Amino acid sequence: MKLFYKIITFGCQMNVSDSERVLAYLKNLGFQKTDDWKKVDLLVFNTCSVRQSAENRVVGQINLIQKNHPVKKELKIVVTGCILYHDDKFLSGKFKYPVLFLPIKELSRWDQKLVRYFPKIEKRVAKKFFKISPRYNSKFQAYVPISFGCDNFCAYCVVPYARGREESRPMEEIYDEVKNLIDRGYKEITLLGQNVNSYKGERLKVKDDKFTEPFPQLLELLNSIKGDFWVRFLTSHPKDLSDELIKAIASLDKVMKYLHLPVQSGDNQILKVMNRKYTVEHYKKLIDKVREAVPEIMISTDIIVGFPGETNEQFENTVKLFKVAKFEMAYINRYSPRERTAAFNLEDNVSLKEKKRREKELTEVLAETIKTKSQKLVGKFVKVLVERKKDQFWLGKDERFRTARFKGGGDLIGKFVKVKITRGLNWGLEGEYEKTRS
Ligand code: SAH
Ligand code: SF4
Ligand code: F3S
Repeated sequence: MKLFYKIITFGCQMNVSDSERVLAYLKNLGFQKTDDWKKVDLLVFNTCSVRQSAENRVVGQINLIQKNHPVKKELKIVVTGCILYHDDKFLSGKFKYPVLFLPIKELSRWDQKLVRYFPKIEKRVAKKFFKISPRYNSKFQAYVPISFGCDNFCAYCVVPYARGREESRPMEEIYDEVKNLIDRGYKEITLLGQNVNSYKGERLKVKDDKFTEPFPQLLELLNSIKGDFWVRFLTSHPKDLSDELIKAIASLDKVMKYLHLPVQSGDNQILKVMNRKYTVEHYKKLIDKVREAVPEIMISTDIIVGFPGETNEQFENTVKLFKVAKFEMAYINRYSPRERTAAFNLEDNVSLKEKKRREKELTEVLAETIKTKSQKLVGKFVKVLVERKKDQFWLGKDERFRTARFKGGGDLIGKFVKVKITRGLNWGLEGEYEKTRS
């Protein structure tokens, strides 16, 4: 008898990437993927717990499934991803199906737990997480993790508890994964780590090595692979962004001119309580330096509004920073207390209404910047990697990670095209198709 599974993924790119390894692993155990609820034997939730809302979604989803979908009586549920594993109680007992908590890092040993429910699965020899070859969701874009976990302990963040200490992947292993993808025709590689700048992977020598730090060295190594492709990376911590990395972004042609540099707050006192280990002045200097070295670069950020004790004046400092930094994109998060983190002991004293107001104010400043910047691009040409079609428009991202849409012929998905910008929209660019690059 065949065994079927289904995966539901919440959270950031790291989780999407991890799910690709879960998929490959379950297939190896003999499970088959299905979207037919009636057939599912094993349902996997790959969850995020950065904010309470994400955790609630898992509970909500299981309830919905219990109510709306005609599932098997024997259904088993696995919860994995960024969760606190001591926290089993938040799900167990609430459902009629058994819920297993299996840490993502121990993926290669899941068989030992699953065999209890599925005696027929083929047991596997445990190997390291990254040695499991993923089944990529896309045929032309791939996430490649370069490290796991985080050592920074920002006061609000659950990641160091949920994912554990930072561990870097050896350069050679990353090189092999990327080389293989490029040989198979992949066009965009996104390197993932909670803090790529503190990457410490064992080095692999390149000819005429220009860099001494591991992450710029890794970029140089990947840049040396032959082919027409882009390299992106996420996330950079402002305390660790080095001059060498700026030099690498500026000088390596396959490394995209895009930097995600979460600032979290524009107020020094709040930054201090957040344990971010830099000041607003340092941050501003940093982006000046980056923009001087790479004038065309796009910079995006993350913000938390309503951190415990954030006064209106302190919030206005973030607004001021937005006005001078002119971010091209920002992910604005309302503070959500997470158990075990340092900030959990502080009173969550900014009301939801006020958090929403602050979020709205920042969104408006951001929208203004994006619009002004996109309008300046009218008449210019950009290179776009086409991702999908919606209505009559092709949609994709340009080198800087700006979303662009255009009309045109042929099947363009997964191809690089040249687009002439005709209009700056609130969320991106609109243009005319010029020609296909490859
Ligand atoms: N390692 C990355 C991002 C980790 S989580 C970094 O350091 O930047 C992604 C984003 O979620 C964070 O940048 C932060 O803005 C947000 N976030 C994390 N914990 C949060 C919390 N408790 N409440 C609200 N937003 C949070
Ligand atoms: Fe969620 Fe953060 Fe984990 Fe990403 S790193 S999945 S946002 S908890
Ligand atoms: Fe979280 Fe800060 Fe690390 S936001 S993931 S503790 S860098």
